[in-house]
Amino acid sequence: MKIYAAILAAGRGERFGSDKTEAMLGDRPVWRWSLDTYLSHPLIDRVILVTTEEKAPALSRELGNEVLIAVGGATRQESSRAATVEADPDGILLIHDAARPFVTHEVITRTIDAVLRNGAAAAAMPVSDTIKEIGPNGIKTLDRTKLVAMQTPQGSKVEILIRAHEATTDSFTDEMALVESQGVIPEIVEGDPINFKITTPEDLARARAHVGCPETRVGIGYDIHPFSNDPDRKLFLGGVYFPDHSALDGHSDADVLLHAATDALLGAAGLGDIGQHFPNTDRRWKGEPSLTFLRHAAGILQAAGWRIVNLDITVIAESPKIMKKALEIRTTIADALKVDVTRVSVKATTNEKLGSIGRGEGISTFATASISSFVPHA
Ligand code: CTP
Ligand code: MG
Repeated sequence: MKIYAAILAAGRGERFGSDKTEAMLGDRPVWRWSLDTYLSHPLIDRVILVTTEEKAPALSRELGNEVLIAVGGATRQESSRAATVEADPDGILLIHDAARPFVTHEVITRTIDAVLRNGAAAAAMPVSDTIKEIGPNGIKTLDRTKLVAMQTPQGSKVEILIRAHEATTDSFTDEMALVESQGVIPEIVEGDPINFKITTPEDLARARAHVGCPETRVGIGYDIHPFSNDPDRKLFLGGVYFPDHSALDGHSDADVLLHAATDALLGAAGLGDIGQHFPNTDRRWKGEPSLTFLRHAAGILQAAGWRIVNLDITVIAESPKIMKKALEIRTTIADALKVDVTRVSVKATTNEKLGSIGRGEGISTFATASISSFVPHA
């Protein structure tokens, strides 16, 4: 069964005063935040972005095949219908407000689980303020313990949504009201206070304050390779060729420096290690230069919402002289990681003739990486 997520970003932002989904939040517009969270969720098969007619062509070019672009309507209900028709009727569809940038993987997973159990489900929060209903004949105080404030995602079997859209002539402000019109009682799952909706400029200020507090993590990597007797092997350190020097031995190109750097990055994100992602038994990686591993690891981190802050590498070798090529190595690594060269440092030391490295039997490398996410990470 296919699981779809639709991000609704076709609103006019009247209470905000302009198209709030296009406002910049950290390094990305508001709509991009939840889109990235859904794209990196392991259970979501296809993400649909519902946008306006004017913005659709540019977004199609920007996002390519990664995201399905649909054109929304004048009301939220019409925008939600535009997503529903794109989904397979046998699947399930989660609808999410683009104006809620900080939705978490946990809330998405909870909603999916409940939709699979129950047919329809949505995230909501208990109400902490006392709510009063003001009518022509006075004020009624509502029982707070029976109230919840709805968030998104709101999810349902696609087939129920199709039926509801076809049957109804009423207008509903959320998808759960729509499925309720079909007699389906949605399950309410726990939302998250951070999954708030940007409605007014004050909400954007709150979101920006939140983005200003990134979470940082560090990782360490270590590798060692012995020198090889094979005259046909070539010495690569940090993706840079060192001619006129014996090469290192190993399954791959034995680029000890890049292996340590890749492990530091994966380690910082808690995403395993180089051997796990690029096993030397997998033919896909056979003969690949280690720069491919580094690039791939950077992609894995990016998909998980991490940004590289810096990488510091120390090579321990009696020879060759690393420092004369340090800038070339830093540039090669920075290009592979798509970061500025100032974020990559390469240092070298001898082992003062101590131990195996000191006897010139091989080269070892330590690397540390620091990564950050703009929000406390899932
Ligand atoms: N939305 C949509 N299509 C509409 C109306 C709303 O896709 N016709 C989207 C908005 O872009 C937003 C989400 O639904 O991400 C929640 O709606 P809301 O917060 O009400 O946004 P707007 O309708 O844009 O704001 P306002 O009601 O203040 O005009
Ligand atoms: Mg609205």
